[in-house]
Amino acid sequence: MAYNKKHVKIDLWPEKEEKEKKYSKNREALKLTVPTFLLFCSICLIFLILLSPFTSPPQTTSFAASSPPRTCEQNFTVYVYDLPKEFNTNLLQNCRHLNIYTDMCPHVANNGLGQPLHPGGGDSETWFATHQFIAEMIFHARVKNHPCRTWEPNNADIFYVPFYGGLYASSVFREQNLTKRDELAVGLVDYMSGQRWWGRSNSRDHFLAFGRTAWDFMRSSDEASTDFGANILMQVPLVRNMSVLTVERQPWDGDNQFGIPYPSYFHPYTSAEMLTWQDKMRRVERPHLFSFVGGPRKGLEKAAIRDELIRQCADSSRCELLKCESGGSRCHDPMTVLGVMARSRFCLQAPGDSFTRRSTFDAMLAGCIPVFFSPHTMYTQYMWYLPDDKRSYSVFMDEKNSTLIEQELSRISESDVVQMREAVIAMIPKMTYAHPNATNYNLPDAVDVALEALAMQAKAKVVYSL
Ligand SMILES: *[C@@H]1O[C@H](CO)[C@@H](O)[C@H](O)[C@H]1NC(C)=O
Ligand SMILES: *[C@@H]1O[C@H](CO)[C@@H](O)[C@H](O)[C@H]1NC(C)=O
Ligand SMILES: *[C@@H]1O[C@H](CO)[C@@H](O)[C@H](O)[C@H]1NC(C)=O
Ligand SMILES: *[C@@H]1O[C@H](CO)[C@@H](O)[C@H](O)[C@H]1NC(C)=O
Ligand SMILES: *[C@@H]1O[C@H](CO)[C@@H](O)[C@H](O)[C@H]1NC(C)=O
Repeated sequence: MAYNKKHVKIDLWPEKEEKEKKYSKNREALKLTVPTFLLFCSICLIFLILLSPFTSPPQTTSFAASSPPRTCEQNFTVYVYDLPKEFNTNLLQNCRHLNIYTDMCPHVANNGLGQPLHPGGGDSETWFATHQFIAEMIFHARVKNHPCRTWEPNNADIFYVPFYGGLYASSVFREQNLTKRDELAVGLVDYMSGQRWWGRSNSRDHFLAFGRTAWDFMRSSDEASTDFGANILMQVPLVRNMSVLTVERQPWDGDNQFGIPYPSYFHPYTSAEMLTWQDKMRRVERPHLFSFVGGPRKGLEKAAIRDELIRQCADSSRCELLKCESGGSRCHDPMTVLGVMARSRFCLQAPGDSFTRRSTFDAMLAGCIPVFFSPHTMYTQYMWYLPDDKRSYSVFMDEKNSTLIEQELSRISESDVVQMREAVIAMIPKMTYAHPNATNYNLPDAVDVALEALAMQAKAKVVYSL
């Protein structure tokens, strides 16, 4: 064949310049021979098909508006506390100072989905630059609109306490006065313990959902230096009986903690949008065996493996490396990140500042099989969401055994790769936070899965004492 695979490589999300380059290349092609021209046409066609959700006008506006409300198909009811605003929405008024590193104002918009990636899409926008630590807001919006919500606490199976504890924690990371740093969290516990339904089952049917890791709520001693920024919420005895949903549990001491997915960028309105996306990820061409998106972490023992991954990826012609260094903005561009992942069969997931990474969920959304180096990056975290057999959807490599990653991965047969990828793609709906206003969406999403699991647990455990 006169052309090699590289020319057929499809950039799912080309950056602007690249798009222009391709366009002018196409023009040059017109001067070339007819067969080449035809080849280009078919490439363009594939390109257009794959890009279509981003280029065609949104089709769901009237659909979503006219479709019937979802009905409760799960056998439970959830009650949402109407907390004093200081515990959630009032915090948003201070969005500039909710995180010591970032201005959160763009991120708290649209109920926490953040800024649309293709502005002008109107109400049916489904892609957002969603912040990694914002799950609690999206969770809240989803539960508020949930068809199994009840306004009658007497009938409720589970009770949701919509405290924006993660946003609060990150807003006071630098507070040296620990009494002050814990203030709102302690205030919440005081408020809750005065509620009538709290005592019904020793609060076992009550839950919190946070978009940050458990470590941020588990300061162990009164030495601020040992637990940077953390407050004591999850150490309070009254909270120990609640269920706490976090994007990262403490694997050894987190019996009442349950992992929920980090939010990624896709928040579909309709089931059809999800099915279209899954299908696209099945068919996309993946020229790279593996990829790594991330930066080195200085002085963190837990993240030493990162330097090794970056070295091995850079040395391999079959690895695509997107190295994130301070100031490197490409790493924060959702479509660049997803593009790298959608061009790879395997995506390396090294621990970073903590065990888990949002990147794992981005990779799975892109149909890329995750490769883990610590069991705590996924297996001990998201029990409600994972198939029993780890090897059916992921690869595990011992981080202490730095064998050649390329060699290991290329040993996996093509048919196994296809099967694993199918398993990953099948997991996408449960890992996704559907659009809070979605009406025509009947695939269980991240919030549906969590609520159902909590309800089952509550029904099994609750001993009524009221
Ligand atoms: C729903 O749950 C209730 C109480 O837990 C139970 O009595 C009922 O049989 C369940 N219904 C279905 C359809 O599972
Ligand atoms: C969802 O619907 C509500 C009520 O119509 C609206 O205020 C909100 O902006 C919509 N969008 C999102 C992202 O929640
Ligand atoms: C810490 O904050 C609390 C509550 O605002 C205050 O009562 C206390 O005096 C402060 N402690 C110090 C050492 O500043
Ligand atoms: C937690 O639950 C246990 C058993 O249900 C109960 O004995 C205990 O008092 C509860 N703790 C608190 C702080 O409510
Ligand atoms: C390292 O990993 C390779 C491949 O999985 C395996 O064959 C080898 O025995 C391992 N070595 C050690 C010391 O665990």
